[in-house]
Amino acid sequence: MAIERTLSIIKPDATRRNLTGQIVARFEEKGLRVVASKRIQLTQKQAEGFYAVHKERSFFGELVEYMISEPVVVQVLEGENAILANREIMGATNPANAEEGTIRKDFAIDVQENSVHGSDAPETAAEEIKYFFSECEIVG
Ligand code: PPS
Repeated sequence: MAIERTLSIIKPDATRRNLTGQIVARFEEKGLRVVASKRIQLTQKQAEGFYAVHKERSFFGELVEYMISEPVVVQVLEGENAILANREIMGATNPANAEEGTIRKDFAIDVQENSVHGSDAPETAAEEIKYFFSECEIVG
């Protein structure tokens, strides 16, 4: 099994409701290690850049507004098959479709306020990690 790194964002609906610790506990319980972490207030430019791949989608403006509405916690998670493992821990994008015991089933409000983001593939994980962290900020 490969040791991978993935980018996680604890989103505004979760930081607002003081759920950061409970969410991080889910990662750690399932064997993922937090190797970098910071709480930041995204700027509009940062959020637009991060979600640029979705810029043609109808919800883009709303998604950016939401992501800058409160602080977020950006983290690098490391572990065996971390990208897929994190997506399983998060559950489906829309909490209505998320499985029991997943973060989104237990904490998310709706498809926008869905508590967490996780990279979806090795290439995007590498890009997303670089978007927020320099190498010296990641300590494995
Ligand atoms: S996924 O997981 O990337 O395949 O899901 P996708 O449907 O492509 O959604 C991409 C991100 O957009 C958010 N999203 C929405 N925001 C607001 N309104 C609506 N209707 C909506 N649908 C999807 C979704 O939470 C995903 O955010 P991230 O941060 O990438 O998980």
